[in-house]
Amino acid sequence: MDTLPANVVLGAQWGDEGKGKAIDQLAAHSDWAVRFQGGNNAGHTVVVGDITLKLHLLPSGITASNCRLVLGCGTVVDPWVLDQELERWHALTGEKPEGQRLFISERAAVILPFHRLYDSADSLVGTTGRGIGPAYRDRTERVGLRFVDLPHVVDDSEAIQSISERMNKQLVTVGVEQAIDPEQLQSEISWVMGRFSDAIRPTGPMLDKALRAGERVLLEGAQGIMLDIDQGTYPFVTSSITGRANATHGAGIHPGHIEQCFGISKAYTTRVGNGPFPTELSLEGGPGKQMSEVGHEFGTTTGRPRRTGWLDLVVLMEGQRINGHTGLVITKLDVLGGLDELKLCVSYELDGEETQSVPASCEDYARCTPIYEVHPGFPALSPEEWIALADESRQGGGLSVLPEAMRDYLARIEQAIGVPVVSVGVGPDRRASIASSDGPFDVLLGEATF
Ligand code: IMP
Repeated sequence: MDTLPANVVLGAQWGDEGKGKAIDQLAAHSDWAVRFQGGNNAGHTVVVGDITLKLHLLPSGITASNCRLVLGCGTVVDPWVLDQELERWHALTGEKPEGQRLFISERAAVILPFHRLYDSADSLVGTTGRGIGPAYRDRTERVGLRFVDLPHVVDDSEAIQSISERMNKQLVTVGVEQAIDPEQLQSEISWVMGRFSDAIRPTGPMLDKALRAGERVLLEGAQGIMLDIDQGTYPFVTSSITGRANATHGAGIHPGHIEQCFGISKAYTTRVGNGPFPTELSLEGGPGKQMSEVGHEFGTTTGRPRRTGWLDLVVLMEGQRINGHTGLVITKLDVLGGLDELKLCVSYELDGEETQSVPASCEDYARCTPIYEVHPGFPALSPEEWIALADESRQGGGLSVLPEAMRDYLARIEQAIGVPVVSVGVGPDRRASIASSDGPFDVLLGEATF
């Protein structure tokens, strides 16, 4: 029997839950950090000294120099974006991780300019426009190119010609005027092969070997369960499986390795892009505006303002059913400070009936109205006061250092979901995290190790 040392971090809402800090904390104790789905539609902010770096594709675990990094077989990789991120990382740290500690699965799908162009025609979903859906569609249709396929087509001009023809027909159907030039496509493929030849590897077997040797693997989810292609608010979803079941599959290892699975949720809710959002508030004033402004709720990838709303426990229940989280991390609790009262959505009303599940049809979901429970608010604390509380928690107080109104709010979440809250984020500072004293998050994040 294999040992179990893989841990998973997943978004429990519509993405942007602030998974990065939890990942940072776990990466410090992991030998590998693995992205298993999605591509550069994700976004996370990395702070190294005084410099802030926005990364979209590289695993967040990159800031832990002990961590080897994998873009797993379930990901879609834009080689040009990866190149830029690596160049910026190199300029900042002097490190060139590709082929040294960054490996790309030979089975990962390649995002080509065609996929970006095709995605630019989207007007329904409000995608990030990064070519994610078209690249997954090509993969599912079995016409896409994986990294391992590139050498087989690069010198085959007939294949290149027929690939470009297919792409151009598709671009016409969605009204994109730009066309793919076969020669250019050939030279792009050739560049990708040369640029990443050291990094393209059979990463599934590599991870399997590492796990057998007792090494620890961190599986980094992107987006969130409500954006899952199967379980989310279809069609307003991303094109990959964002849930736990794909964490190991998209890394090329078996599910028996998973030890702990952490669901990350904000203390409220946000969503970018289109689609139903029952607890949505106005961004023009009141709590919705506070969440937007205090929480700096703008997309890392597109800069779009995020829609904001009260915490929706039905969404978290849905995520619990699918992902079986072993612990919850609640982020951005500080953002709610100063509101008179806090609302928690405990169920929906649909056609006169009360329900605690998310309807499969978005038309039905759009007609759901939230049923709220009202909880007392708590005062706004300054960043210094939050950090002082966090310091106190690290001296052994754990989550008990939080004032009563906050503890009650968190206790209600735990009770509804049936899973303990193991850590609470109370500010952007690396020290601003209050964790239960027996969990893996009870660590003071040092500066990134570069
Ligand atoms: P796509 O993943 O670019 O195809 O976009 C599909 C939907 O998922 C859109 O509503 C996007 O706004 C949303 N989405 C994709 N990635 C993220 C993310 O990292 N955070 C939040 N929403 C995302």
